[in-house]
Amino acid sequence: MKRIRNTILSCLALPALAFMAVSCGQEDETEARIDELLSQMTLREKIGQMNQLSVSGFSQKVADDIRRGATGSILNETDPAVINEYQRIAVEESRLGIPLLVARDVIHGYRTVFPIPLGMAATFDPELVERGARLTAEEVTASGIRWTFSPMLDVSRDARWGRIAESSGEDTYLNAVMGAAMVRGYQGDLSDSTSLAACAKHFVGYGAAESGRDYNSTWIPPRAMRNVYLPPFETAVKAGALTLMTSFNDNDGVPGTGNAELLKDVLRGEWGFDGFVVTDWASAAEMIPHGFASDGRHAASLAMNAGVDMDMMSNVYSAYLEDLVKRGEVKESDIDSAVRNILRVKFRLGLFDNPYVDVGKALEVQYNDSVMTAAYRTALESAVLLKNNGVLPLDRSKIRRVLVTGPMADAPHDQMGTWTFDGQKEHTITPLDAIRESWGDDVEVIYEPGLSYCREFNSRGVARAAEAARRADVILAFMGEEAIMSGEAHCLADITLKGGQREMIEALAASGKPLVLNIMAGRPLVLDMESEIADAILFSFHPGTMGGPAIADLLSGKASPSGRLPSTFPAASGQVPCYYSHNNTGRPFRGDETMLYDIPLEAAQTSLGNTSYMLDAGFNPLYPFGYGLTYSAFEYSLPTLDRQEYSDGDVIRVSFTLTNKGKAEATEVAQLYVRDLVGSVTRPVKELKGFRRVTLAPGESSEQVFELPVSELAFVGLDMKKKVEPGEFSLWVAGDSASGESVNFRVIR
Ligand code: NOJ
Repeated sequence: MKRIRNTILSCLALPALAFMAVSCGQEDETEARIDELLSQMTLREKIGQMNQLSVSGFSQKVADDIRRGATGSILNETDPAVINEYQRIAVEESRLGIPLLVARDVIHGYRTVFPIPLGMAATFDPELVERGARLTAEEVTASGIRWTFSPMLDVSRDARWGRIAESSGEDTYLNAVMGAAMVRGYQGDLSDSTSLAACAKHFVGYGAAESGRDYNSTWIPPRAMRNVYLPPFETAVKAGALTLMTSFNDNDGVPGTGNAELLKDVLRGEWGFDGFVVTDWASAAEMIPHGFASDGRHAASLAMNAGVDMDMMSNVYSAYLEDLVKRGEVKESDIDSAVRNILRVKFRLGLFDNPYVDVGKALEVQYNDSVMTAAYRTALESAVLLKNNGVLPLDRSKIRRVLVTGPMADAPHDQMGTWTFDGQKEHTITPLDAIRESWGDDVEVIYEPGLSYCREFNSRGVARAAEAARRADVILAFMGEEAIMSGEAHCLADITLKGGQREMIEALAASGKPLVLNIMAGRPLVLDMESEIADAILFSFHPGTMGGPAIADLLSGKASPSGRLPSTFPAASGQVPCYYSHNNTGRPFRGDETMLYDIPLEAAQTSLGNTSYMLDAGFNPLYPFGYGLTYSAFEYSLPTLDRQEYSDGDVIRVSFTLTNKGKAEATEVAQLYVRDLVGSVTRPVKELKGFRRVTLAPGESSEQVFELPVSELAFVGLDMKKKVEPGEFSLWVAGDSASGESVNFRVIR
C-alpha cells in the first residue's frame, strides 16, 4: 500500500521536479526492482545500506565491510581508482551487488573553487549559480563521487556564526532561490553519470544557533519555523533534492536527528519527499551528550523512529538496529522504507547501470575552460562595492606606481575560503598575480604585504607598507579573514578585522594616498572605521580560484561591480543578530511612514522619546541587505500596479522604469519588497519577494515588470494555517532593502 502511494506521489510531482526525464513507467520499474532486492536482503544487509563510513585510501577493513554488505555509502574518498575498486567490490563481490553511493563535501566547487556560498548569493544570479553547480558536478562526478552535502539552506542572521559563510545569508526567499538553483545544477536531469545528488541541509534551524556559537541550541517557535526556516527546504524538495541532512542543534529541546514531527509529518507527509535522510556527522550519537538519548542503542532507536534513513559515522545503526528490531522497538517495515528510500536514490542516479568511472578522464575535466570561466564570472558578480568616492574605477592613465599590500593580496589558499579540501592553491590566481599580469607593463607594481596573515600583529611590517604607500599613486590594500576564520566551529565574538589590520589601514590612510580597500572574508564584518577613512571598499567574500582576475577587472573598470549584500552589515558587533526583515517594535526607532496611524499624533509618539535603539550603536546597520554600488547610478520610477485590489489567485503586476543615469554600462539588481501592514500576528517590516539583474548602457531606460502571485503573500498566522490574510500591503521596488518609496494595495476576499 505504502509503495503505491509513494509512486503516485512522485509521478504527480514529476513535472515540478528536476528529473523530468524519468517517466512514471521508469519509476514503477524502479520500485519493482527495489521490491525484488528488498525481498532478497537479510536484515543485516538492509542495515548495511543505512550505514555510511568515512574512508581515506584503500583499506582491507573497508573492503571487507563493503563485501559483506555492511555499508551502503562512503564519504571522503576522492581517488577515482580507489573509488572504482570499492565500487567493484560492492558490485561484483557483495552478495546482492548493490553499488555504493560515494559522497563528499563539495560546497562551492570541487577542484575549481567558486566563491563561498555567501558570495554566490551576493550575485543575486540564480542562473549563474545553477551553471556553476552543473560544472562542479561535471568536475566531481568524473572521479566517481555522486553525492554532495550541499546546498546549505540555513537562514543565517548572526554573522558571528562561522557557517554563515556556507549559507545564502539572512533572507528566506534568497536562500530558497539559490538553494533550488544549486539543486538543479548539481543533479541536472538525472540522465547521465554527471548527476550529483544534492543534500539539503541542515534540517533545521541550525543557523539560529544561540549567540552565534556553533552547534548551540536554537529556540525557534513553530510559527517562525514555518515562516522563516522551513521554506528553503520545501523549495529544495520541490526542485527534486534527492537527499536531506539533519542538523546538530536541538530546537526547543529536540535535536534535529530525533525530530519525528519535522522529518515525518512535515518532510514526508506534507511535502511528499521520497529521497532519503542522512544524519549529520555522528549527530545520532550526539543525542547522548545532548541528554536526549541515554546511550547508543537509545540514540539509534530515536533516530530511526524519527525517520532518519542513513547514519553518518555514529555507527549506532550498525551496532543496535538488528537487536532493536528483534525486541520490537523498531519495526522492520520502517527499516524497509529507509532502505527503499536509499535504493531509490541509487537507481535515480543510474548507479546500478553505470557504477564505474573512466579513471583516465577524471583529470581532463578539472580546471577546464568552462568551469574556470564560470568561476571567474561568479567571482566578478559576487563582489560588492560598499563605498566609492570616485577613486574607482582606477584611472590608469594617471597611475605610474601602485602599491599592492595586505595579507590577502597573495594568499592563494585563504582566498578559496572554507570547505575547500579539494581546491589546489597552485591553480588559484591571486589579486597580486592578476594585477602584475594585466597591469605590469605600464604600471609599476610595488608589493609590500605589511602583514603575512590576517591575524598577525607586526608593527614593523605595517611601517614598511606605510612607507611604500608614500611612493605609490594609489594603495590597493587586501584585507579580511583567513579561510580558517569562518566555517564549521569557527565563530567569533567580535566581527571586526583581526590582528594588526585596522592599525595598518589607519597607517596607510595617513599616507594621504588614495586608499582602496579590498576585503575577502567569510562573513559580514563591522567596517565602521574603514568606511570612514577608505576612499573605496570592495567586499568580495572569499572569491575562490578566479578571485584575482575578477577583482583586478573590477578595480580597472573592465567590469562594473554588481554584487549585492545577502546579509546586513552591522555597525557594531553588539547589533547582531541584525537583519532587515525584522518585526517592528511598538516603539520603532524611525517613525514608520508606511503605517497610517489613525490615533492622535501625541499618542503615537512614545513616552519620553523612548525608542528601540542602542545608546552606543544606534539602530541602523552600516550597510543594509541588498545594498551594493556600481560605477553608474540608477534611478527608479515609482512602481505602478495594474490594480489597487487583488484576490486569492490573482497575480500582481508591478511595473517600473529603470534608468542608468551614469556614464558607464552597469548592472542593477532591482529588488521587490512587500510589507503586510496588519496581520493576525505581527509581520516583518519588509520581505523580499523578487529580484532581477538588469544591465543598461549609460542613459538607457528600461520598462520592467515583476509578476507577484498573491499566493506569495501567504504566511502562517495565529491559527497556524498558511494563508493570505486580506488587508493593506505596502510594496517597494528599489536597489536595496532600505531605499525606495512605497505604493499600497489591498487584498480582499
Ligand atoms: C559536518 C557538517 O556539519 C556537515 O555540513 C558536513 O556535510 C558533514 N560534517 C560531512 O562532512
